[in-house]
Amino acid sequence: MAGQEEHVKNEESVLPAPRGAGADAEGDPLLVVAGLTKHFPVKGGFPIRRTVGQVQAVDGIDLSVRAGESFGLVGESGCGKSTTGRLITRLLEPTAGTITYRGQDISHASRRQLAPIRSEIQMIFQDPYSSLNPRQTVGRIISGPMEVNGIEPEGGREKRVRELLEIVGLNPEHYNRFPHEFSGGQRQRIGVARALALEPKLIVADEPVSALDVSIQAQVVNLLQQVRQELGIAFLFIAHDLAVVRHFSQRVAVMYLGKIIEVGDRDSIYTRPRHPYTHALLSAVPEVNVGDGETAARERIRLAGDVPSPIAPPSGCRFRTRCWKAQDRCAAEEPPLVRISGNHAGHLTACHFPEEPTIEAREEDIVLDPALAALEEGGSAG
Ligand SMILES: Nc1ncnc2c1ncn2[C@@H]1O[C@H](COP(=O)(O)OP(=O)(O)OP(=O)(O)O)[C@@H](O)[C@H]1O
Ligand code: SF4
Ligand SMILES: [Mg+2]
Repeated sequence: MAGQEEHVKNEESVLPAPRGAGADAEGDPLLVVAGLTKHFPVKGGFPIRRTVGQVQAVDGIDLSVRAGESFGLVGESGCGKSTTGRLITRLLEPTAGTITYRGQDISHASRRQLAPIRSEIQMIFQDPYSSLNPRQTVGRIISGPMEVNGIEPEGGREKRVRELLEIVGLNPEHYNRFPHEFSGGQRQRIGVARALALEPKLIVADEPVSALDVSIQAQVVNLLQQVRQELGIAFLFIAHDLAVVRHFSQRVAVMYLGKIIEVGDRDSIYTRPRHPYTHALLSAVPEVNVGDGETAARERIRLAGDVPSPIAPPSGCRFRTRCWKAQDRCAAEEPPLVRISGNHAGHLTACHFPEEPTIEAREEDIVLDPALAALEEGGSAG
């Protein structure tokens, strides 16, 4: 299904003009997260169940997303990416730390307090099959958030839904169809239209293309890129590998076991990574054909062992049980996330014995799919 031809209208932009006066200038901090922590209690015991431990899903992360920016959040399964997204959209209550949105502390805001900004932060989910109600028409799905928030656009909701369908490259005539009549990529476009219905300022996209074929991934990423650039919407873009984010995000943070271990602008992360884990992630990207039937040769770093349990993470540096550079100090002292000498401003690394920045080898590691590579041009703008 996901592989079938898509109805795409990307020749010409159909997006309305960006919101003018009153919109945040690109670059202003929209979202600031400080010391954000989420521990889930682990219950055990019989007959009385009590808390016997804590899953340290997210453990004291700092990040900020500027207006109009795409910020990528990357890491292996279980490192706490979705939990971070759910905390920011306030689907989960943080254990500690603060979430500040446009200067307002929303860390523990009540539903009523959140109401005025609810529409401004939207989420796109990974699975376009389970995230759309199969019994509702596309029209109802997309107009749902407008109904819930009592928004009556000029010309009516149906007109607005048709406009949104057009914006995401779907046929407005398909207003009355059901989700099963669409391919995976088209369903994800419906999810995007639903997220856009309330004119958000920030979209948390939790692995929005992971469930799609690579060729379709590029189209959906392209659409999100267009939305970001033309509507000035900021993204927190969550992905499990560095490949997709590279083409979409100006800044990238790498997570491991609930912590951010490296963060920086795109060039720093992809061409001058310093954390051993970032190196390992980059080397894990599948090999690419470089033409003439030859495959680019490069050193592959194989991570030994499994990701430790977030219930009892290793002392000191959490990556130390899989790190080829680990020494005694790594077990005793947690490395702070700091700017290492030689790094660009804003490029922070949490490691006692960082890698040398490698520039040339990495370039080959990260070129993936030509369709995705073609998008990069657009991604660097802004
Ligand atoms: N409601 C919950 N109760 C208990 N533990 C949870 C809960 N939600 C998540 N966790 C645990 O928190 C950790 C982080 O989960 P999270 O879903 O945020 O990871 P992720 O990085 O999004 O992974 P994936 O790439 O698989 O989506 C995992 O160990 C997970 O099992
Ligand atoms: S602090 Fe030590 S264990 Fe952690 S990544 Fe750096 S070298 Fe490896
Ligand atoms: Mg997840």
